[in-house]
Amino acid sequence: MAEFARWAARLPIEKLDCIKRENLIFQSRYGVENVSTPTWVKRDIAMLDAPLATGTRSAAVVAIVGVRLAGDVVEVRFADGQVGRFHVLWLRDACACPRCRHPLTGERTFPIEILRPGLRPSRVEIGPEGEVRVAWPEPAGHESRYDPAGLRARIEPPPAPAPTLWGAELMAAPPVFAYDALMADDGVLARWLIALRDVGFALVQGVPARPGAVARVAGRIGLVRATNFGPVFDVAARPDPNSNAYTALGLPLHNDLTDREPQPGLQFFHCLENTCPGGETTVADGFHCAAQLRARDPAAYALLTRVPVGYRFQDRHHDYRRLRPILVTDRSGALVEVGHNNALRVGFEGPAEDMAACYAALRQFARITEDPANRARFRLSPGELYVIDNRRVLHGRLAFQAARGRRHLQGCYVDRQELLSRIRVLART
Ligand SMILES: [Fe+2]
Ligand SMILES: [Zn+2]
Repeated sequence: MAEFARWAARLPIEKLDCIKRENLIFQSRYGVENVSTPTWVKRDIAMLDAPLATGTRSAAVVAIVGVRLAGDVVEVRFADGQVGRFHVLWLRDACACPRCRHPLTGERTFPIEILRPGLRPSRVEIGPEGEVRVAWPEPAGHESRYDPAGLRARIEPPPAPAPTLWGAELMAAPPVFAYDALMADDGVLARWLIALRDVGFALVQGVPARPGAVARVAGRIGLVRATNFGPVFDVAARPDPNSNAYTALGLPLHNDLTDREPQPGLQFFHCLENTCPGGETTVADGFHCAAQLRARDPAAYALLTRVPVGYRFQDRHHDYRRLRPILVTDRSGALVEVGHNNALRVGFEGPAEDMAACYAALRQFARITEDPANRARFRLSPGELYVIDNRRVLHGRLAFQAARGRRHLQGCYVDRQELLSRIRVLART
């Protein structure tokens, strides 16, 4: 699919620049962009940060042309006429000076009692670098400085990275990465990570078909998320399965571990052996499928975002339970998580009157995921590995004939935060 090729070709410059800009906005929350070069300490300027979910912003910084105190609000006027209103307690809270943040950790060092009612600045002005300067009555000489881009981002949040939606055509030209390059080259690593963030799927080829290799690949991102199945788990038919995954059954499209809090983010599958007839892998983009449900039947979509579902995993040693909607939206209404697992579902938690509609909505969503237009299908060979965003992309497999060969995959999980953290750290230059 040419779209993916174009997308991949654009990656190194535009996407990483966006992340670098995101880092600038983000760094004040954690104080330092890089512990070894704490640039914020040199500048003492609170870059502030855009809301956590945001990704990019305009490179152009609109200059501040006026600043004034109006009661308990500082009004900041930008050159294009936009006015931002910032409460004095919020501004005091955001101070990034070395008195207020530890110079190495960047973490806040003053107590919340500092943010007292009636606190007012003794002076507000525009500084020589175009920043906002706010002086406080105590301690004497205490001054906070705020970056114009950071203030602007509070009134005009930068757009979040948009997911690239896909259907069955994904496999015509999927995001593919070579193991050797991925392990040795941070530029290739960055592209892989961005593919995982934006597409939620990537193939890696040329991985040594040896047990444990999957954890080394995952380790390029961050810590492996261990579960009751282990840090690394073997997917093969077993005589005493504690999950349908460990049988030769076909598995309908699902998200793993919907019973866990939080649900593991990235999921890795590494093929060591695959000689059994059958067992093809299936994947579907849960965001794309949910968008189709929303377009066809908005009420069904709304039910799946609103009515929680109980999920449960139990075996001899464990009993995990979690109540969550199948489709999770954020405060803006954007879909951020999909958690559909027919095997682990206990049931919807809602009034009896809603049940018929809930199950109809879920049947409809499941049918959309298994629609051949949405479901990508491929056969893994030894040395191939694929990664999905398990909180977005559903996976499954066709049944296989366990007696006529060997099918052995190894898997592991890495949390979404590890991915996003690694992307930000790689963008530091
Ligand atoms: Fe699974
Ligand atoms: Zn301060």
